[in-house]
Formats: sequence, C-alpha cells, structure tokens
Amino acid sequence: RHDVLTTIVVFGASGDLAKKKTYPALFHLFQQGLLPKRTSIIGYARTQMERPNFLERVTSYFKEDPESPDVQRFLGICAYVSGKYDVDADFQRLRGEIDSNEQAMGKRDSAEERVHIYYLALPPSVFVTVGDQVRRNVYDGTCTNRVVIEKPFGHDLESSRVLSREIGELFDEDEIYRIDHYLGKEMVKNILALRFANVFYEAVWNRHYISNVQITFKEPFGTEGRGGYFDEFGIIRDVMQNHLLQVLSIVAMHQPKSLRSEDIRDRKTEVLRRILPIQLEDTLLGQYVGTRDGSKPGYKDDDTVPKDSMTATFAQCVLHVDNDRWRGVPWVMKAGKALDEAKMTIRIQFRDMPNALFPKLARNELVLQVSPKESVYIKTIVKEPGLSTNLAMSELDLSYHKRYQDLKIPDAYATLILDVLNGDHSNFVRSDELDEAWRIFTPLLHQIESEQVVPLPYEYGSRGPKGVDEFATERAGYKLSAGEYHWKPRPSS
Ligand code: BG6
Repeated sequence: RHDVLTTIVVFGASGDLAKKKTYPALFHLFQQGLLPKRTSIIGYARTQMERPNFLERVTSYFKEDPESPDVQRFLGICAYVSGKYDVDADFQRLRGEIDSNEQAMGKRDSAEERVHIYYLALPPSVFVTVGDQVRRNVYDGTCTNRVVIEKPFGHDLESSRVLSREIGELFDEDEIYRIDHYLGKEMVKNILALRFANVFYEAVWNRHYISNVQITFKEPFGTEGRGGYFDEFGIIRDVMQNHLLQVLSIVAMHQPKSLRSEDIRDRKTEVLRRILPIQLEDTLLGQYVGTRDGSKPGYKDDDTVPKDSMTATFAQCVLHVDNDRWRGVPWVMKAGKALDEAKMTIRIQFRDMPNALFPKLARNELVLQVSPKESVYIKTIVKEPGLSTNLAMSELDLSYHKRYQDLKIPDAYATLILDVLNGDHSNFVRSDELDEAWRIFTPLLHQIESEQVVPLPYEYGSRGPKGVDEFATERAGYKLSAGEYHWKPRPSS
C-alpha cells in the first residue's frame, strides 16, 4: 500500500475541525511513516490566504515545534487552494492542482494504482454542494475515490434520509467513510478483541449474567464558544445518537462472521434493529445553570444561545434491546456537559451471586474506561487480606498507562484516517446503521420538541439534575457497591 500514489484533499482546510483534528492526525501519520511514500495533501477553503498564513494555521495545534525538521518535511507535501464551494471553475483549478501534483510525484501511467481522498471538514449545509462539485469537476474515474464526512448527518430520521439519498446519488456507499470519532478510540476498538478473543467474557455476555449496562459520557466544561451550533442539536443529537449508540452496538452485537468490515457492520446494524425507540418516560433531561458564586456561566448566559432555549445539555435514558440475548437488560445512557468530571465509561454490572455461601457484598462489574485514562477493570470480591476472613471489594485492574508505559495512544482521527488510507470501513458508520440510529431517537426528539419538555436545571460542575443518581437504580436496577469502594487508576510509577 505504500506505493499507492495518494492525494488527500481537505475541504474546509481553514476551519476548526481541520486545524484541531485533521492536520494534526495527518502529521502524526506522516511522522510515523504511515502515509504512502508519494502523498500530497491539498487544503481547500474559501479564505484567501498566502502560503505562510495557511501553514501557520494548519500547524497551530501540532504538539511539535513548527520549525522542527519533521514539521517542515510534512509542510513540503501540503498545498493550499482557495475557492468557493459552488463555483465550477474553482473546482476545475483544484483538479488541475491534483493532476500537476501527481505528475510531480512521478505519476507513471493510467494503470497505476492511485487514490484520491476527499475529506469534507465542512458544515453539513455545504456537504452536498461540495460533493456535487467534486463529482462533476474533480472526480477521476480511473482511480480509487474515497469521501470522508462527519456528523451532523441530518437532525432526524427524515432529514438524514434526504442527506443519505443526495450523497448516495453522488458516491457509492463503498466510497463513503462516515466518521464517528468514538470508533477510533483505543478502548472502543478494544471491545471486539476483549469480547471475542477471550473465552470468559463471551460466556457471560447475556441477560443470564448481566443485570444492566451503563454508558456514560461526562464533560467538565459547557458549550462555551459553540453554543450557537449546540443549541440546534442538543446533547442527544450531539453525543448519544452517534457516539454512545455506536459504542452500545459494539457491546451488544453478536459475534461477526469475520473481521471483514461488512461482517462487523452487519452485526452492528442487526442489533440496532432490535432496539426499541426510546420513551420519554424513560428519559431525564437537564440544562446547566451558572454556579451560585457566579464563577461559571449557565448555558443560557452564552450570547449565542437564545434566552428561552429549552435545549438539553444533559440527558439520561434507558434503552432496551429486544432479542434473546438482552431481553430484560436495561441499557442506561447518560451524557452531559458542564458536569463534575471528564469521563467516558462502559459499566457492565453483573447479577447477584445466586448461592448464599457468602453474604452478598456487592455485584461484579466490568468497567471499560474509554477516557481520560484507558483502563479495563473488574470489580472483584476477595477475602480481605490478612487475618480477617471478611470479604472485600477489590479489582482486577488493567490500567493502560501502567501496563503499557511507553505507549502513546494515537488520537482517534489518526487511526481513522489510516483506515481510510487502507480502505477499511470497519470503524465507519454505514448508511443503514445511521438510519437505525435515527429511528431509535427520532420519536423521542420530536416529542421533546413538540411537547416543549423543559429540562431540569443543574449547577455547572455538579453531577447533573435532581434524580440523576437514583435514575439508574430505579429504572435499571443498578446496585451501588456498599461501603467506601472507589476504583482509582493506579499511579504510573
Ligand atoms: C463531539 C461533540 O462529537 O464529541 C462534542 O460534538 C464533544 O460536543 C466531543 O465534546 C467529545 O469528543 P472527545 O473525543 O473529546 O470525547
């Protein structure tokens, strides 16, 4: 694959996503020697910029010194073209740039293997316009073409279908890579290995042993700076319908026939089809308010947020997977902004031990911590060490920073772009998965909007609105460990 003549076009190259994620990820791959030997990266955006300004912008989020030889070599393969998003002549110029870069990289003949990757780091309002321009003025049928797009993919089932149809008219499904960056996270990618490469997990991975599952996303900061965007979407569309549901589908799916991407995506789609639409009664909504001491603002204090906004910045809900493996097991999803900590976890709580040999101390739990520190731990009961014969809650702990001390876990975008370069769709969302995801959430979203459900207030930096802690216990039978047990990541040395 290293010989493939590769062109990556980053649309929206002057925007936030490109600057914060796409270019740093491309640089990371370049530095690791993972970009094909002959690669050129062309940024395209409306802003007219001289080359030095452009280079300064794309390197602004690099951890490396921009003057370092690695960065300088990387910049050597980067070009910038400015143009409008709906002007044929501008896209023809882009095509010209691609052609001349390919010649400069030593393009041999038309039979040579070449790849064009179009990364649309763009707002959804121009996805189709740009896609259409690419299709008509840039697309080269003699090479492999891949188009990378990122959420929001519509705002409900209907709008998502319209978008899928419009994009589907321009590109084939196997040319499309829908990014959900959670699928590029180390611990999320690990779920498959954990489940299907170890004999003991899969043996208990069902309703007979598992009582409930909680998928939790907490951020300690509000929507500062992106309130305008956020207000149109809210936390359910921003995080739950995509990131958390994707995670859920991998935890819940049956074993795929093989590791081929379509086999994996078939299994994910199959389990999504079994999830019942979420009920409003099974949902708790919140919106953060400023701290009492005034040090942190409320959601509606943001000038870009309407003063009467009823958009939820916190949500918790119960999902049910209606198949033989999971019937009766509640799945609790929780996501919120401006909470007390930064954390993303998948917590699988097992049932009570059926025999009565020992007093019931607490339930076993398998916890996958996706962030901030990747870890897997199993809450396990042991004999209290020493002369005591009492039981104690402890854990089998695989903290990555401790176990793999020299490892630098790559950013999700780097692994996903590498997948695109390799033509591997496993960690991208297929259109039927997307459709199912919207089917599950759309009735709830429409009901919240039509009934104008008022989210409960919670203070910035708190655990969430009133009722948050009881929710999982009351709705999903979650049992908190008695006593003082609290898992702490191991110190690294
Ligand atoms: C994005 C959401 O998709 O994911 C953001 O739009 C959220 O609101 C972000 O902050 C979280 O991603 P990460 O990788 O920081 O956990």
